[in-house]
Amino acid sequence: MSTDTKNLKATNSALEISITRPDDWHVHLRDSDALSKVVGHTAFQFARAVVMPNLKPPITSTEQALSYKSRIMDALSKTPVPHSLKGSGFSFEPLMTLYLTDTTSPQELEKAFSAGVVAVKLYPSGATTHSDAGVTNILSTYPALETMQRLGMPLLIHAEVTDPLVDLFDREAVFIERHLVQLRKDFPELKIVMEHITTEEAAHYVQAGDKYLGATITAHHLLYNRNALFTGGIRPHYYCLPVLKREKHRVALVKAATSGSAKFFLGTDSAPHAAHLKEHASGCAGCYTAFSAMELYAEAFDAAGALDQLEAFASFNGADFYGLARNKGRITLRRESCQMPESLAFGHAKLIPLRAGEALPWRFVS
Ligand code: DOR
Ligand code: ZN
Repeated sequence: MSTDTKNLKATNSALEISITRPDDWHVHLRDSDALSKVVGHTAFQFARAVVMPNLKPPITSTEQALSYKSRIMDALSKTPVPHSLKGSGFSFEPLMTLYLTDTTSPQELEKAFSAGVVAVKLYPSGATTHSDAGVTNILSTYPALETMQRLGMPLLIHAEVTDPLVDLFDREAVFIERHLVQLRKDFPELKIVMEHITTEEAAHYVQAGDKYLGATITAHHLLYNRNALFTGGIRPHYYCLPVLKREKHRVALVKAATSGSAKFFLGTDSAPHAAHLKEHASGCAGCYTAFSAMELYAEAFDAAGALDQLEAFASFNGADFYGLARNKGRITLRRESCQMPESLAFGHAKLIPLRAGEALPWRFVS
């Protein structure tokens, strides 16, 4: 890759990259105390973030979504702004979502859409954290999907089957065959985002799809294969759902993210859980990456020799897919060693960010 690309500036051995301020198209901010500890990490890097609705109880109504949005903004207003952002005029907008159930009504969706709720999340019941209220039968959601198709409101899918007879590592690929193919035939103009894709099958399926199909990709699925879960013992901080897959899948995801295709965009799936609940006999699923999200993506794109593709993936493709304006501000990242803390405060507990205690090769400058 040449360093004379307009966004890249080489100074001696250091390299700086300046890109349009990015958005996170998939994040978990939680609520209450946890929310107040994590919201700044996302808001200080991203202009907007699509906030997942899997709270307890889930966000199933417009009223709940708007009230959650004001709790997010309230928590952010109490978070000290880092020195590097002071005077930068930065702003953050949480983009709210509803949690789809078997009984979500078309009326509620129309109300939500006109109130600014941007999308609806489909969790197959039992697929992941707080998904027990999720969809048990996709056919029962057809009146809702019909409405979303008409409104142009995207459906965000946790695309894994929950059938216990299907191997955990195959659940995403099987979801495509069993559900997604038919769903797209029945709703050809419904905007669908396959969230946090983890397999070659998903990358190829999305790439071959039409303009109504897109996908988010996490930093951890670009950086790690499933060996990370078992290196030197069980590593719970690398456990998320969909679970990390074998190396050929990681390679396919890197290829998709760096290909220049507008169908792939950034979604961290940053999912905070207290350390003691991850380091547990039945540890929770979720990697906490918001603390250093753009540093991790820069590392993955740099390793692929594709830093010149980072801006489209992080700052353009998602906005274009959702039909929202691209951001105006910029951020700067520098290739320079950056030490990660061992842990972060999380109320009475601790939060362990991905790569805790290690040095990252990229630093978020401003
Ligand atoms: O690893 C995950 N954690 N995957 C999900 O789908 C949900 C998330 C969470 O909410 O913790
Ligand atoms: Zn998620």
